[in-house]
Formats: sequence, structure tokens, C-alpha cells
Amino acid sequence: MSTRAQQLLDWYDRERRDLPWRMAPGKKADPYKVWMSEIMLQQTTVATVKSYYRDFLQKWPTVQDLAGADLDEVLHAWQGLGYYARARNLHKCASVVTREYNGRFPEEEKRLLELPGIGPYTAAAIASIAFGAKATPVDGNVERVVSRLFQVEEKMPKAKKQLAELASTLTPEKRAGDFAQAMMDLGATVCSPKKAACGICPWMEGCEARLKAEPTDYPKKEAK
Ligand code: ADE
Repeated sequence: MSTRAQQLLDWYDRERRDLPWRMAPGKKADPYKVWMSEIMLQQTTVATVKSYYRDFLQKWPTVQDLAGADLDEVLHAWQGLGYYARARNLHKCASVVTREYNGRFPEEEKRLLELPGIGPYTAAAIASIAFGAKATPVDGNVERVVSRLFQVEEKMPKAKKQLAELASTLTPEKRAGDFAQAMMDLGATVCSPKKAACGICPWMEGCEARLKAEPTDYPKKEAK
């Protein structure tokens, strides 16, 4: 494993946020729960998602339970999370997994991508966090961290492809799910948009933006 990957995983083992969808270290994640949390987290903050996540799992503990629910009931429970297309797709996806996959989420990213509401980010998140595959979910947090670490001068959104490749190169074969969540945590708590707490960052030594520029100037954007 690269030094960088090891540094971030060591930091994660010390500092990881205790979130309801995270398993105790070493415990296998339930793909249904990982999927549920990642769909909810796409356009909603961690603080808001927590209670909805608990409510949904209490109401519908398995993917079969969710598939059997009335759409109206799911939409009602979703109230407050916004972007209702996510809730409709959640219900649709639960039905497909129940009918076509016997209630078990497929492991391959390619198969996951075919499911309703699952795009590249969610497919990579499920593959790595639930199944331990070497996949790299790239969200805004990850893009920011990587753009600073490598001082990427290309502007957003053009830089997206390069940032995804760099993030993928950093990802270790083992513990890819922890690594992904560690990057999300780093972006959310240390390497934040307007403030970079470089003094407590596990990557401070090799961070190009810190060494040669101003971290908060990255990722670069087109002038508005
Ligand atoms: N944002 C999206 N997915 C997340 C996760 N698994 N942990 C923390 N923040 C996230």
C-alpha cells in the first residue's frame, strides 16, 4: 500500500466519525444499508440524514420490506429530504433487487450501475464500502481534497476527469471502502471549502497546494 493510503487509513482509524451507517471496524457492511445511506447523502447533509436513515431502516429493515411498501408511504417518509426523484428510484431499485436479484444487491459496479437511481458515485460507494472492491466514489469532498493534494490547475468542471483518475490511483487494493470514507471525512472536517486545517491533516507533508500555494484556492473554478 502506498504511504499516502496508509497515512490516511491510520488517520481514519484514529479519527473516524461515528455515523449510524458505519459498521464497527472489521465488521461487514450490509449492502442495503450502504445503498440507503449513500442515496440519502447525495444531496442532503450528514446531520439531516441521520434521523431519516434510522427511520427508514426501522420501517423497512430489508430491501424486500421496502419493495413491498406503497410508493406513497415511501414518499411520505422522505418528506424533508428533498429531490423526490431519489425516493421514487429508491422504491424502484428495491423492487428490482428483490425481483431480479432475489433481494441481494449485485457486487459488480457494472451491474450496480444498471439499477434505478444508481450512478457512478453510488455504484463505486456500494462496491467499495459494502463489498470491499477496489472502487473510488468521487464526490465534491474527494474532488477538493485531491485537487489540493496534487495542486491541480485545471478548472472545474473540466478537472473532474483528472481528479477522478488521481483519486483512483490513490485508492489501495485493500480497505478501499474505509479509504473512500476517510477521504470524505477529511474533506468534510479538515480540508473544508473555506478553511483548510492543514496543521492536523494526515497529508500535510506531501500536499502540493499547502507547500506551493493556497489550499483554499483549489479546486480552481472558472471566474464568475
Ligand atoms: N457522504 C457521502 N457518503 C458518505 C459516507 N459514507 N460517510 C460520510 N459522508 C458521506
